[in-house]
Amino acid sequence: MEPDELSQILRSVITGVGGHLPANVVTNDDLAKIVDTSDEWIVERTGIRKRYKAADDEPVSDLAVAAAEKALTAAGRTAADIDLIIVATTTADLTFPATAAIVQRKLGAPVGVAFDVQAVCSGFVYALSVADGFVARGRSKCALVIGAETMTRLMDWTDRGTCVLFGDGAGAVVLEPMEGQGTTADRGLLGFALRADGTKQDLLYVDGGVSTNGRIGHLRMQGNQVFRHAVVNISEAVRAAAEDAGVEVVSVDWFIPHQANQRILEGVARRLGIDESKVISTVAEHANTSAASIPLALAQGISDGRVKPGQLLLLEAMGGGLTWGACVLRL
Ligand code: UT7
Repeated sequence: MEPDELSQILRSVITGVGGHLPANVVTNDDLAKIVDTSDEWIVERTGIRKRYKAADDEPVSDLAVAAAEKALTAAGRTAADIDLIIVATTTADLTFPATAAIVQRKLGAPVGVAFDVQAVCSGFVYALSVADGFVARGRSKCALVIGAETMTRLMDWTDRGTCVLFGDGAGAVVLEPMEGQGTTADRGLLGFALRADGTKQDLLYVDGGVSTNGRIGHLRMQGNQVFRHAVVNISEAVRAAAEDAGVEVVSVDWFIPHQANQRILEGVARRLGIDESKVISTVAEHANTSAASIPLALAQGISDGRVKPGQLLLLEAMGGGLTWGACVLRL
């Protein structure tokens, strides 16, 4: 074997990205009609101006399929090419089968691997890492990784502390294997750090479940505690992911965080020494779409021309569990 061949490794490369939002827009003023809140409070404390809400007859798989179709088109692939589908969601169509299997059927993709990942708002970062385990080992030639959510279905519309924060949507990426040199110049997923701390469950959870009370339940959150945890702990995971990738945090071209709160985005960027101009923020337009927020922000950054192939991207998220994590990749 030649020395050159020895240093070649398989990388999971994002070859297409797509985002989809439902048609129905809910403004802060709309919410001020049902709970004691105001556009001023929501904008000042969160940066959110509006969110999208799926129609009652629009399941999360429909949002996922629409995003996936755009990602496939961008990658120059069709459903026939897909051999792996991972959907990160906390708002599945049904208790089972997995939403990924429903997406497979609706896309008309052939028999392959399909399953869901449940890590709430961190789900997309977790799912990318799981997919990397297939793609970078040559076990998938064309994978779809989707973050899709109908978080509005979990809202208690009498709780102003939560119902103003979330929205619906989906984002998808196509991942394909490509030979790299094992350096940070390679395209593909370069480094990860995933974390969970189950002792923090009470800070953010849904008070319903199949094997407890049999209800769907509502999202419950101690917002200010989650806020504190987010700003402090995400930075550690980001540094660990950068170290795993072999890059400096400050060298990334774009920081694409989970979109929960503009103040969290800015706080984390500040702690990491990342310039504000490198942060992709969609929180004003989309609100918190949980596992969908990162791929939606990535799709936005690409479609408006800011994010380009070859650039170094830093993704991070935190959500119920608590779970959190980060990923460094070259597009
Ligand atoms: O995606 C995963 C995780 N989720 C997050 O990352 C969310 C993290 N947390 C946050 O984004 C913020 O903590 C919130 C936006 C949820 C809340 O902002 P805050 O600055 O931490 O406010 P707070 O919870 O400390 O509440 C301050 C006040 C309270 O009133 P009192 O007790 O001071 O009289 C709340 O009742 O704001 C009140 N409040 C509201 N007022 C108007 C809470 N929600 C609202 C509202 N409208 N929608």
